Amino acid sequence: MSEAKLIDGNLFSSRLRETIADHVRGLRDHHHVVPGLAVVLVGEDPASQVYVRTKHKRTIEAGMRSFEHTLPADTPEHEVLTLIHGLNNDPEVHGILVQLPLPKHIDSQKVIEAIDPAKDVDGFHPINVGRLASGGDALVPCTPLGSLMLLKDRLGKLAGLDAVVVGRSNIVGKPMAQLLIRESCTVTVAHSQTRDLPGVVRRADIVIAAVGKPEMVRGDWLKPGCTVIDVGINRIELPDGGKKLVGDVNFAEAVKVAGAITPVPGGVGPMTIACLLRNTLVACARQHRLPLKDI
Ligand code: GUN
Repeated sequence: MSEAKLIDGNLFSSRLRETIADHVRGLRDHHHVVPGLAVVLVGEDPASQVYVRTKHKRTIEAGMRSFEHTLPADTPEHEVLTLIHGLNNDPEVHGILVQLPLPKHIDSQKVIEAIDPAKDVDGFHPINVGRLASGGDALVPCTPLGSLMLLKDRLGKLAGLDAVVVGRSNIVGKPMAQLLIRESCTVTVAHSQTRDLPGVVRRADIVIAAVGKPEMVRGDWLKPGCTVIDVGINRIELPDGGKKLVGDVNFAEAVKVAGAITPVPGGVGPMTIACLLRNTLVACARQHRLPLKDI
């Protein structure tokens, strides 16, 4: 049997970023509006520092303004909340992202709920979560949105397909399930307590793996020809002491069974930042009551 097609998230995301940059130019030239994204990082988590640096670079490349706020790990919660109130009231800031995880002494949910829902480009505020669930005009979490774009590009209409989402996090699993319901898929959300996980996954035309467990989904769990979206980014140590990035899917096995699969790296990862820029553009257009074609 032939190997699965690779779903190229680098290529798709760079095209999406070019489209966004075109729209940003249009807003600037015709309406004198420049979308602005504020990113708040508390502490020195190295993975978060890498994400924030990349976000800054991509934001500038798209022609947007980037505002970075880096605070020490022991910043009191009330100072973070005061910063967010300031950003909510800053007309140059259209999107606010607070990098997670936050240090333990800060209540993440309280911080998320302090963000103006209109500027909540992560789509984590309960207002946006509720709108996504009830069919309104939500800002949608970036990783699930990017995953859905890759799926639609590969499969066209998703209506009637069986989708299994492995993982039930607020950041990926739950919003992913909502998006797939909106596309008229038959959706199963599997998790650590699911009985016979391989049997559940084997029914799926679409498998979304978002559990954070390296190479957990095995090739013989998959229905031949299915489409696999691997959201995992796990850094593992090799026997020779080297390090390697792997997903939540055993790629070497899955590529022999699936019809199409996202690699790690180069699959879903680059889509997340592209969708963050997309959400910032959408938020900016809505705040200025300017029309924007669906992107
Ligand atoms: N940390 C890991 N993923 C994300 C994300 O999508 N948004 C934020 N704010 N923090 C994260």
